[in-house]
This record gives sequence, C-alpha cells and structure tokens, in this order.
Amino acid sequence: MTTKPATSPFQTSDNVAKMQASSTLAAMQAAEALRAEGANVVDFGAGEPDFDTPENIKRAAQVAMSAGKTKYTATGGTRELQQAIIDFYAKKFSANFGRNEVMATSGGKQAIFNAVVSLINPGDEVLMAKPYWVTFPEVVTFASGLPVFIETEDTGFVLSADQVARAITPRTKLIILNSPCNPSGRVIPPAEFQKIMELLVERGIYVITDECYLRFVYPPAEVFSAASLPAELRATLCIAGSFSKTFAMTGWRIGYALAPREWTREMLKVQGHSTSNPNSIAQSAAVEALQGPQDSVAAMLSEYTARRAWLLHALREIPRLSCNEPEGAFYAFPSVRECLGGELTTSAEFVARLLAEEHTVVTDGAAFGAAGYLRISYATSMEQLEEGVIRIKRFVERLKA
Ligand SMILES: Cc1ncc(COP(=O)(O)O)c(C=O)c1O
Repeated sequence: MTTKPATSPFQTSDNVAKMQASSTLAAMQAAEALRAEGANVVDFGAGEPDFDTPENIKRAAQVAMSAGKTKYTATGGTRELQQAIIDFYAKKFSANFGRNEVMATSGGKQAIFNAVVSLINPGDEVLMAKPYWVTFPEVVTFASGLPVFIETEDTGFVLSADQVARAITPRTKLIILNSPCNPSGRVIPPAEFQKIMELLVERGIYVITDECYLRFVYPPAEVFSAASLPAELRATLCIAGSFSKTFAMTGWRIGYALAPREWTREMLKVQGHSTSNPNSIAQSAAVEALQGPQDSVAAMLSEYTARRAWLLHALREIPRLSCNEPEGAFYAFPSVRECLGGELTTSAEFVARLLAEEHTVVTDGAAFGAAGYLRISYATSMEQLEEGVIRIKRFVERLKA
C-alpha cells in the first residue's frame, strides 16, 4: 500500500501513485532553469529529432484543414491512413495485414498503452530488457502488472533468446521488445529476433515490439521489422509504430498499432473511451509521410550517420569512458563506471555535476534501469556535439580517481 499524506483530499489510485514521473523531462527542466539564468547550455538530453517536419507533410496538413478534415474520424483512424500503413508494411516487409489488424494512435506511446492495458490482469508478469525505455514499466504498473527486468549487460545490451528463456515463469504474459533500443541504440540481429519469437510463440507469450526507431539503423546492422516474420510467429504480436522520429513529427502525436484482430478489437475499446481517434489533421499528414517523397528521411538518416560516427569516435577518446556501438536510433550509451569510486559514486552524481560545472545535459542511465551509464542524444547539431564532448572530456579529466 502506498501512503498518502493525511491532510491531502486526494485518494489517488495506488497504481498511479506507484508510477514515476518522467525523469527525462526532469533533465529538460533543469537545463531550462540554467538557460533562464543566461547559461550557455549544451543539451544532449533530447529524445526527439532536431529537424523540422518536412514541408510536404506540413502542406498535407494545411490542405486537410482547408478541406474541412477537422472532424472526428473512426476510432482506429481514417481508411486512407490505415491503408497507407498496410501498404508500407506490404511493400517494405512483404507483410499482409488486414484493415481489422491496424489502428492509428496518438503516438507510438498510445499504441503501447492500448496494447498493455487491454491485455494485462493484476499480477501478470511482463518481461522487458534492461536498459528499457522509461515508459514500459510505468504502463505495466498502471495496468496492475509486474514489470520483470532482463539483465543484458553481459551481451553488451543486445537481448538474446537464452536470456529471455531464463526469465520466463508460469506468470509471464507479455514481453516488450524494443529494437533499435532507446536508450542503448543496440539492435537485436534478425536471426536472434526470430529465435526469440519462436521461443515466445512456443510458450504462448504475447509480444509488443516497439518499432519507433525502425528506419534509423546504421550499416552493417539491418532495418528489420517483426512484420517480416512468418505469420505463425505473429499470432500474438503487436507492432507499435510511430511517425515521431522517422518524420520529425513528435508534436503531431501520431503512431499506429498492428496486431491480431482480437487484440486490435480490445485496443479500440481502450482508445475509443480515452482519446477517441488520433488528431484528424495529423492523420492526413501521416498519409503524406508514408506515401510522399522519402528524401527527407534519407537526409536525416545521413546526418545522423555522420554525427554518430564522429561522436562514437570522440567518446572513445575520453579516458575512463567506454561505449558499445549504437547500431540504431540516435543515442550513444557510454559507461562511466570507471569514473566512479573517487569523488563520484553514482552516474546520477556525474550527471548533476556535469550540468552544474559544465552546463551540459545528459540523461542518467539509472532512469532506464542501467546505473553507471549515460544517454547522450545526437539529435543535435555537429557544433553542439563538438562543444559538448570538449566539456565532458574536461569534466572527466578533472575528476580525481
Ligand atoms: C522507444 C520509444 N518508443 C516509443 C516512443 C513514443 O513515441 P511517440 O509517442 O512520440 O510516437 C518513444 C519516444 O521517445 C521511444 O523512445
């Protein structure tokens, strides 16, 4: 039981009381406070592209507004958007989804929320790899489920089928996979992904695979969607997708879920009684995002590729920092363990002092279940990256062992 202050009139929900507020947002607020004091802050905290939404997508939204597409749509989205999503997966991954297996959502986050809430009963165990995206355990807690974490440090944060097998218990109902991973940037190789899915299907465990960073993958790693798996491996699978990162559309709040008919039907109930349909104008914009020219996606990817290469090299030059290769998304996830034990004992202290002394924002790995690490977002300009790395290096060199 959670304790509530005796004087408070609010008898809040126990599940919501157990949830943590977003720690990534807390870092943003700390940086904002420093900026307000006039500090020159370098911000590696952002979980969103630094690019603007491509012009063709914005124009599609303007046209939709002028054409009066400003009313409620069907709960699961317009026919046009549903078809555009189906066509994208058919073309790219040779997958055949029906109209009753797709729904548009208010961001990938709502797809995950719908999928968890419509499946989980009190006490059901939900597996997720560490480090995890911050929202996963919170949504599970909200649904009265029990988040169960899989340690993956010994495989460099790449989840393996063996690790999953060891974590399954008779109460395991669901696993949430995320590749490319926020925060580690690691990618589960397609063959291992298939092995994981074979195991889960054999054990009757449901799967949500969060494909938010689907298209931001750096060779030799390959773009891979669970949609490309044989149909028998997709019988209990929900794909949660997003337009936020791929098309620099974070503020538009548009995403989707692809799941078996029965699961989709339940998710539609949750969505229908919470947000109804996703924003009608954002839906028209999303159709253009999928069907219009893809050159802006390629341009963003090429920029991230250059930044990633530069950053990884620069971070590896800093003494006492070590960094696995992030194969996707737009984050590096270096370990600062070797900097701890002297003046600093935790990565949280590292983050706080880096902000106070060098006005540089990074996110503590502990927020993602991986204390001792930092998440550095390279969704920022090359100049900011260069300046930030100078500051991190200066800070680390100053630290007494
Ligand atoms: C791993 C992951 N999944 C899902 C999302 C949700 O994205 P959105 O709700 O903006 O589509 C994010 C956003 O940061 C993310 O990092």
